[in-house]
Formats: sequence, structure tokens, C-alpha cells
Amino acid sequence: MKIVFATNNKHKLDEIRSILGSRFEILSLNDIGCHADIPETANTLEGNAIQKARYIVDNYGYDCFADDTGLEVSSLGGEPGVHSARYAEGTDHNSEANMQKLLRCLADKDDRCAQFRTVICLARKEDVADYTLFEGIVKGTIAKEKQGTEGFGYDPIFVPEGYNESFAQLGMDIKNGISHRARAVEKLARYLVQ
Ligand code: IMP
Repeated sequence: MKIVFATNNKHKLDEIRSILGSRFEILSLNDIGCHADIPETANTLEGNAIQKARYIVDNYGYDCFADDTGLEVSSLGGEPGVHSARYAEGTDHNSEANMQKLLRCLADKDDRCAQFRTVICLARKEDVADYTLFEGIVKGTIAKEKQGTEGFGYDPIFVPEGYNESFAQLGMDIKNGISHRARAVEKLARYLVQ
């Protein structure tokens, strides 16, 4: 069975292909000739995941799933959340600027609890207006300064619950075993193979 994952991110594609094995043929956006700037204008992770998955079903006629992830910090009312990629003003996916802004915002806060949350939306062509959502969460805290060099995004400042090191220090093997994305992907995989 063919199913599109609405991404061209090689890391995410490898991860999902290794979890789903040979039971599904996972196609990327490139594989279906989609080079469009898919709208991602919702103000929630759920809204963006639904928007992306439905766009592919409606315009390309494939079953599709799409993900959206945010870092939700308790003492900042859940920010940066859906704005995680562009948290530092005037930047786009500038991890260094995003982390520095977050560290500044938390400088006088005692509560440094946070969670990464991934939402995956699965939309199928036979269900014209329907979809199914899957959520993966990893709880943790925001470190006082950057630690470690592996990973991407906010990894150097996120310390998952039960560990004393950041995602960037723990490395990919440990991170992929406990991460928000892995947990959401496992739920999707269990649903698809039912
Ligand atoms: P996306 O929805 O996967 O593109 O994630 C949005 C933003 O959240 C990214 O640009 C990163 O800043 C951040 N992010 C998502 N996943 C991770 C992660 O596993 N580690 C660190 N940052 C992440």
C-alpha cells in the first residue's frame, strides 16, 4: 500500500520507513512531484497537520499523513508551541536565535518545565472530510545553557525527564527511542497495521 508522508526531510522519512518496514511504501513529496509551498497557516499543531495532510489528499489523490511539532514551555503559557520554527522574530528555522530567545525568556523563571509535542494527521482519499490524529509527547526541562552538539532545533537545551543530559548530548539512538516524534509515529504505525 502506498502512502505519502508530507515531508522531504530525510531523517523523518528514514525514521518512519524503519518503523513501518516493508508493509507500506512511504512516498515523499518529491516522489509524487509535489513542489508546492503547502499552506501551514493554522494556529495549532493539530490544525497545521490536518491542513498539510488534506492538501495532499485533495490535490494529489494519495492517502497521506503529515506531522507538526512544537516545544511547549509551561511558564510561557505553552510558547513557542506552534511558533517553534520561527520563534525569534524575522528568522526562519534559525535554531541558534530561537534557543537564545527562549533562554532569555526563561532567565528569571524558576519553572523550566517543557514538553515536545508532535501531532500526526492521517487523511485518506475515501474519507473526503475525515482524518485521524496521533499525539506523541516527551516531557522534560529547559537547561540553563546549551549542552551537546548532536541533533537539531532545540535539542541542546532540552533535557528529557529521567535524564541529566540534553537530547544533543544523549545522541540519536536514545533520542529516537523516547522522542515525541517516535511516540506519535509508533501510534500511527500500530493503527496502520491493524
Ligand atoms: P517540525 O514541525 O518538525 O518542522 O518542527 C517545528 C520546529 O520545532 C523545528 O523547526 C524545531 O525548531 C523544533 N523541533 C521539532 N522537533 C524537534 C526535535 O526533535 N528536537 C529539537 N527541536 C525540534
